[in-house]
Amino acid sequence: SEFHALVPAAGFGARMGHELPKQYLPLAGKPMIAHALETLCACPDLSTVFVVLAPDDTLFHGYDWSHCGEKLQPLYCGGETRAESVANGLLASELEPDDWVLVHDAARPCLMQAHLSKLIAELRDDAVGGILAVPVADTLKRADAQQRIACTEPREGLWQAQTPQMFRAGLLAQALQQCRNVTDEASAVEALGLSPKLVASESTNFKVTYPQDLLLAELLLQQGK
Ligand code: C5P
Repeated sequence: SEFHALVPAAGFGARMGHELPKQYLPLAGKPMIAHALETLCACPDLSTVFVVLAPDDTLFHGYDWSHCGEKLQPLYCGGETRAESVANGLLASELEPDDWVLVHDAARPCLMQAHLSKLIAELRDDAVGGILAVPVADTLKRADAQQRIACTEPREGLWQAQTPQMFRAGLLAQALQQCRNVTDEASAVEALGLSPKLVASESTNFKVTYPQDLLLAELLLQQGK
């Protein structure tokens, strides 16, 4: 079975407060989305890199993708939510049920080749699949209605989910069919009663969500991550 990437990039990025969807904001000399797509296309294990765009997207073709080669395949079938975009993309990709698919956020531009290879190496013989994640570093407080601390949550055993999230295409399609109100692919697979593996990554693979995140991403990308 083969390995493929699928990048949902059909969101608006409302929390960034820009007109331009965040995946197209300029970052270290190119649109944000180009960073993750170039990293994925350069990974020798991956056969295809599907990018799921909004049906009315006009910005993707404004950038020269020739250096990504034949691997890069745009699909204009984005949905209302991230889960819908991934489900639509899986259907349009026509992958074999046994093929592995690595779903990665367009908004995680600092993904390192080393973490990508680690994820694939640790999961290629796994029965379920899994995700890149980092153990929670901060102390966690539960808030009450007055925004005062109700209690301190033990952080032991808690991880922050990242992407890529790697599953067999058939299993993931089935999971998303049954469970669409999820914020990541692993949640849908968990809802089937399965336990995806946590593969340790680093905080550098963070998701650009707020304006101040752009500055940090720019610095990391300039340092070569
Ligand atoms: O908004 P958020 O940061 O959670 O988005 C995560 C990823 O999902 C982004 O790459 C975004 O473009 C994508 N997305 C999508 N379709 C949507 C919403 C988000 O492909 N309807």
